[in-house]
Amino acid sequence: MEKIKTYIDANRQRFLDELFEMLRMPSVSADPAQKENVLKTAAFVREKLEQAGADQAELCDTGGYPVVYAEKIIDKNLPTVLIYGHYDVQPPDPLELWDTPPFEPVIRKTAEHPDGAIFARGACDDKGQFYMHVKAFELMVRTGTLPCNVKFMIEGEEEVGSEHLEGFVTENRERLQADVVLISDTAMISMKHPSLETGLRGMAYMEVEVTGPNRDLHSGVYGGAVANPINILCKMIASLHDEENRITIPGFYDEVVNLSAAERDQLNKAPFDETGYKKDLAIRQVWGEKGYTSIERTGIRPTLDVNGIWGGYTGEGAKTVLPSKAHAKISMRLVPNQQSKTIERLFQDHFRNIAPESVTVKVTALHGGEAVVTPTDSVAYQAASKAIEETFGKKPIPTRGGGSIPIVALFEKELDVKTVLMGFGLDSDNLHSPNEKYGLFNFYKGIETIPHFFRHFAEMSRASAR
Ligand code: BES
Ligand code: MN
Ligand code: MN
Repeated sequence: MEKIKTYIDANRQRFLDELFEMLRMPSVSADPAQKENVLKTAAFVREKLEQAGADQAELCDTGGYPVVYAEKIIDKNLPTVLIYGHYDVQPPDPLELWDTPPFEPVIRKTAEHPDGAIFARGACDDKGQFYMHVKAFELMVRTGTLPCNVKFMIEGEEEVGSEHLEGFVTENRERLQADVVLISDTAMISMKHPSLETGLRGMAYMEVEVTGPNRDLHSGVYGGAVANPINILCKMIASLHDEENRITIPGFYDEVVNLSAAERDQLNKAPFDETGYKKDLAIRQVWGEKGYTSIERTGIRPTLDVNGIWGGYTGEGAKTVLPSKAHAKISMRLVPNQQSKTIERLFQDHFRNIAPESVTVKVTALHGGEAVVTPTDSVAYQAASKAIEETFGKKPIPTRGGGSIPIVALFEKELDVKTVLMGFGLDSDNLHSPNEKYGLFNFYKGIETIPHFFRHFAEMSRASAR
């Protein structure tokens, strides 16, 4: 497979220049002010897929931001790989915590990335990762080594909950038919310990509003005699975890799949450097549900986190006020068998139940998605495992990821197709955080690994069909 390395070496700088061009586009789907830039990014991706060799590459209307769809069908009898990714990115704020501007990509060396890492919003999540597929596709087309049919579906609303995606997938069932979905939007343990995620958590995302008096009050005149909604909200939130850091919502754990001792042992065999983890985050102690390891707490257990809390006076200096309202955004990560709709309902009922008479509460579900576990005995997983073994020199360790990609459960339900999560990022790449980065080594290693996946997948599919 010398062809792969030769092609990458000959095109190294151009691949990077193109990625940089895309990283300079602030495609923040959450920010209406960036609408033009989100659309510009979609057009860029479409053009690059066409140039890479797609027979057809188009922008599909979804009612929201467009899906970029492209395909190259070389032979109807060959297996088809559907590549999914997202061209939208998280908002970059807080801007002042970035060492260099989020949409001006630069390369800097770090301890984890001695060959250099690209610093920019979206570098890892997911522009740097899905672009590896565009370039690997180009490589296979140009070197005449494409062994399967390929379809690309790159969306622009992943970071805001993929609201219009369900409609798109159900309306395009035929067109999206594939033998496997391949996604690079997850992480590896480290470059020394390559891994493949075999699960993603689901999500129930809520917003709450607690109202006390009908207007803001002087905290000296009324304080102590009228419930302060911020004080009340804090107390309600604090009560959502017990002494063992378990979630107190009645029924919350009812549907959770508990793993066998053997399965848990297997998961915990993955390397986890707790000292390095604490050092990286500048924390003295890890935290979490009693009786579980850090690997289990992020992989197989559900969680509840406040993502933001606001109300009252937060400006400069002091203003004495007893606010009328307090708000919070609260997300729950779910594990297999928990249904996001059920959890939303349980949360809503519980939150109303624990509210004292002195306030009124409003609870809104913002968005949800279901957890998934992907098979490790499939041809596609084995092909990915072999591909990584070839390019990293080590068999990848299966892990359960803590993040969520709601489309994966949707693909399973609507298209009856399983996913392989072949991500090349690192958990420490600062996704959704200032100074997001993606290693150059990871970027090029990904481009190199993908064609190996295609070759193994084609060969093994043929063998298993015989
Ligand atoms: N790529 C991430 C998900 C991810 C990150 C999976 C790290 C595994 C490891 C994705 O872009 C993301 O941020 N998803 C959101 C989903 C939400 C907006 C519904 C998440 O996990 O918070
Ligand atoms: Mn992502
Ligand atoms: Mn993300």
